[in-house]
Amino acid sequence: MKIVTLDGPSGSGKGTVGRLLARILNFNYLDSGLLYRAVAIQAIKNDIVLTDVNNIEEIARCMNLEFSLEDNKIFLNGFDVSNLIRTEDISIVSSKVAQLKSVRAILHDIQRSYLKGNGLIADGRDMGTVIFPDADLKIFITASQEARAYRRHKELLGRGESVSLRDLKRSIASRDRSDSERKISPLVPAVDAIIIDTSHKTVEEVKNEIIKHYSSIKE
Ligand code: DC
Repeated sequence: MKIVTLDGPSGSGKGTVGRLLARILNFNYLDSGLLYRAVAIQAIKNDIVLTDVNNIEEIARCMNLEFSLEDNKIFLNGFDVSNLIRTEDISIVSSKVAQLKSVRAILHDIQRSYLKGNGLIADGRDMGTVIFPDADLKIFITASQEARAYRRHKELLGRGESVSLRDLKRSIASRDRSDSERKISPLVPAVDAIIIDTSHKTVEEVKNEIIKHYSSIKE
């Protein structure tokens, strides 16, 4: 079974490309950020502060997250959270959840359980470095903060969420800092990752580039 990891900062386009690749290759798809986002939703819903680590761990252990590649619907413990899970508020809290070592440890095994079927496209921050160090192909997708803020702005507007571009740039810069500088599983390319800068590339171009790399490792 082949494993392709796609790591990179938010807004780099790895989600769009990852879903596309999973469909083309008929692979399973793991959007690992959703797991951190799901813990954030449950914490807020149950009024649990992030310093209450025992209860946050319990949430991570017990939650049931279902994701459908066909219609992009996401269900958390049976509730449709497709819209809520990608909002800015949840982005901010999930970035804090991602700093909790014990939560990362619980999510480690959950992420490995996505390894089934023909193969896996694993999208996140530490897929190639920590969760699937044995991956067949590791891609690190990046883009300038400017390009990522524009993309995120467009995405949020499309969903009816109005956030100013300036606030988004600030929030992206601050999340980049906390994702890259945190002690455990920081956002860094694996030493054997291929780095792709998508700032001036279309989804199609990035997808083709990855397929080309994938074809060369296929045997
Ligand atoms: O990819 P995303 O924006 O949906 O991720 C939400 C948060 O979770 C983000 O702050 C980074 C963090 N994250 C992480 O630390 N490790 C992962 N493998 C995936 C996401």
